[in-house]
Parts: sequence; structure tokens; C-alpha cells
Amino acid sequence: MAGRVAGKKAFITGGAQGLGAAIGQALAAEGAKIALADINFTGAQKQAEALNAAHGAGTAFAYELDVTDEGQWIAALEAANTAIGGLSALVNNAGIAGDKGGIEQLEFAQFKRIMSVNVDSVFLGAKHAIKYLAQNQPGSIVNLSSIAGLIASWNTPAYNASKAGVWLLSKNIALYCAKKGLDIRSNSIHPTFVDTPILDPLRAMLGKDEAEAKLARQVPLGRIGRPEDIAQAALYLVSDESRFMTGAELKLDGGISAM
Ligand SMILES: NC(=O)c1ccc[n+]([C@@H]2O[C@H](COP(=O)([O-])OP(=O)(O)OC[C@H]3O[C@@H](n4cnc5c(N)ncnc54)[C@H](O)[C@@H]3O)[C@@H](O)[C@H]2O)c1
Repeated sequence: MAGRVAGKKAFITGGAQGLGAAIGQALAAEGAKIALADINFTGAQKQAEALNAAHGAGTAFAYELDVTDEGQWIAALEAANTAIGGLSALVNNAGIAGDKGGIEQLEFAQFKRIMSVNVDSVFLGAKHAIKYLAQNQPGSIVNLSSIAGLIASWNTPAYNASKAGVWLLSKNIALYCAKKGLDIRSNSIHPTFVDTPILDPLRAMLGKDEAEAKLARQVPLGRIGRPEDIAQAALYLVSDESRFMTGAELKLDGGISAM
């Protein structure tokens, strides 16, 4: 099959919904084979079935994975590598928000949970996927940080710290791979608010329309992002079109950080 990522084999975490699902759809539409891994296995299975229905059997596979669990990472990567016949891209997308208040209010356990899901995931994923990507060069690691990894808010200490961690860990991985002479790139994506279920708590608090309008008012382009906006960036980073880009950050923030 022709396509911008024809022949690529991508392992995507958090693939059951939201950005992970959208990235899976964008990559499959351009010829990649996909492993969708999620703590929500049923959701990942549904997304994989939809991709197989749209693009043919064997396009997508689903795996149960808690991205904070090293043993599960090792097992899921090995299973996906066998099922798809190799891995050439890792998209570390699974992540959570959920800071409850500022630094004096946030419980330490919640801080550690957000740090673990958002940062341990990238560490463990890259640590154990590089050996597979090395067998399928050129390879690409794409890490979902956030504009919140570059710009802080008063009430998101764990999300800010974790996404800043993802930002610099991405660069570390890029330099490590380059140092080893591997043609494996590592880059981060930094979206602002995007229309996915991660915004549901705010929608529940303010009502859908008011929540989205409140967020959109903060964005120079006047709207929140669509999952496809972010998926297109991931598609570029997984494809060989980005062969010379590593250790970089792509800001998809509707202009927020330009202010
Ligand atoms: N939507 C936004 O506004 C936005 C903005 C900036 C960055 N991001 C980042 O993009 C990524 C995807 O966000 P989203 O909006 O699609 O969120 P989402 O809540 O819609 O989806 C997240 C997915 O990750 C999975 N997940 C959560 N914890 C997991 C774990 N421990 N192990 C495996 N899977 C787990 C969930 O089951 C879910 O399928 C996250 O890293 C998020 O921080 C999102």
C-alpha cells in the first residue's frame, strides 16, 4: 500500500480514545500497521477492530498495558513486535491530567501518580522499545508532552512538572540514539487544549459549551484543537519526511506560546 508511512509499524500507548485513537487512524490511513496499547483494553480492541474494518485485517492489534508497569511494557512490546513483524515507531501518548489544586492542596500520592503515568511511561517505553526500533531503522519516537510542559499554570503542578519532564527526556533520548549511531529520532509534541475526553472534568464542572468557550478564549486562533490537528503532527514525525528532525519540539497551541 502506498502512503506517507507505508511499511511503518507503530506502537501507540493510550490508543483507546482521544489523541491515541486519532493518531492510530491517521497512521493507518497512510499505510502503517498499528499496535494500540492501553490500560483500557476493551477500548483499544474497539479501535483496532475499526481500523481493521477500514483498512483490512491485520492492520491493527490491541494490547493491555499499564504504562507505569515495566513487566507489562516488556511483554506488550514483544507481542506487538511479533504480531506486526517489527516496530519502527513508538508513540508515547498515554497520559493523565488531574491536579487537584495548587502545590499546597495537591496530595503527594496524586502528584506521584501523575508523574508516574506521564514520565515513567516515556522512560520505560523508550528504554525497552529502542532495541526493536534499531532493527527497523529509520525509527521514530514521538512523545506527547503539552504546552503545559513549557508554560506553567498556578494550579497544575504535577501536570506542568511531568510534561516538562517529557520535553527534556525526549531530547535526552534523541541524543542517546544519535550517540549510539542509531537512526532513531525522538521528538515531542506540545498541544494546547484539544477536544478529547481529557477535558470531560472541566465540561462536567462548567457545562460543555462554557468549558470549551472558556478554553478557546485563551487561544489566539480562537478555538481548541481537534484530535486531527495533533495526529497530523504525529504522522509527520513518524514518517521519513522528518528524517533530519530529532530532539525538537512541535508546538501545536493555536499561538498561545507566541504571546
Ligand atoms: N487533550 C488535550 O487537551 C491535551 C493537551 C496537551 C497534551 N495532551 C496529552 O496528550 C495525551 C493524550 O491525551 P488525550 O487528550 O487523548 O487523553 P484521554 O484521556 O482522552 O486519553 C488518554 C488515554 O490514555 C489511557 N491511559 C491512561 N492511563 C494509562 C496507563 N496508566 N496506562 C496505559 N494507558 C493509560 C486512557 O485509558 C486513555 O485511553 C496525554 O499525554 C495528554 O497529557 C492532551
